[in-house]
Amino acid sequence: MKSSIVFSLLLIAASANALYIPAAADTSMERRDDILRRGGGDKGPKDRPVAPTAEEKRKAANDKFQEMKSHVIHGKDAKGKDEAPDKGRHTLTAYCKANPKATGQCNTKTNLCHVPDANKSLWDDRPGKHTLQQIENHCTEAILNHTKNPTNRAQVVKTDAGHHICIKYISGNNNGGPGTCYHAGVNALGPKAMAGDTCDHTGNEADNKEDKADFKCSAL
Ligand SMILES: *[C@@H]1O[C@H](CO)[C@@H](O)[C@H](O)[C@H]1NC(C)=O
Ligand SMILES: *[C@@H]1O[C@H](CO)[C@@H](O)[C@H](O)[C@H]1NC(C)=O
Repeated sequence: MKSSIVFSLLLIAASANALYIPAAADTSMERRDDILRRGGGDKGPKDRPVAPTAEEKRKAANDKFQEMKSHVIHGKDAKGKDEAPDKGRHTLTAYCKANPKATGQCNTKTNLCHVPDANKSLWDDRPGKHTLQQIENHCTEAILNHTKNPTNRAQVVKTDAGHHICIKYISGNNNGGPGTCYHAGVNALGPKAMAGDTCDHTGNEADNKEDKADFKCSAL
């Protein structure tokens, strides 16, 4: 009896310790990358034997997204400068603004779009489709779940509308860039694809013809 109380106290002490993150280390990219690398399964180095909490992991994934957000959504670099029109801008609004002559098609079920000439994958961010917050959530989930499957493949993410879509995250670690995130195909995956699984590109055109809608940037 006594020993189990002592044990519980030790557990409380250990978890309190795990929650304590010095302010400087909390913001360091090194610690964030460490959390992302370690994911859920890895117990980590001996000096930090307690695995990061789910909350810590989500925060690290979102921090990672914040670094690439302006690139992914607006086509702006870290200093807020416009990048070339074909860079980043994985939203219909930003892409069309920079590429007014572009044309493509959307899947009206998933509201994911593609520009064939540029092989560009876009979220439809027009009113009532994907909000910027939802796009951020897709990428955060893909980054989070990618750490469990650190392969070159994309991740299944469940949208608020209930579709299982395929999201590709690239860390940028190999080229010193902020990384990127975009959808890998406009179609929803079947019911067998579970959120967090890896997935392959789902195609650039809606599988069902009735879900296919052309768009012209000049007409948006
Ligand atoms: C188009 O882009 C996707 C990744 O978004 C890539 O897998 C595919 O190979 C590209 N296709 C062409 C024709 O370049
Ligand atoms: C991340 O993966 C887990 C399964 O490992 C899953 O439960 C969770 O829903 C996934 N997140 C999303 C929203 O894709």
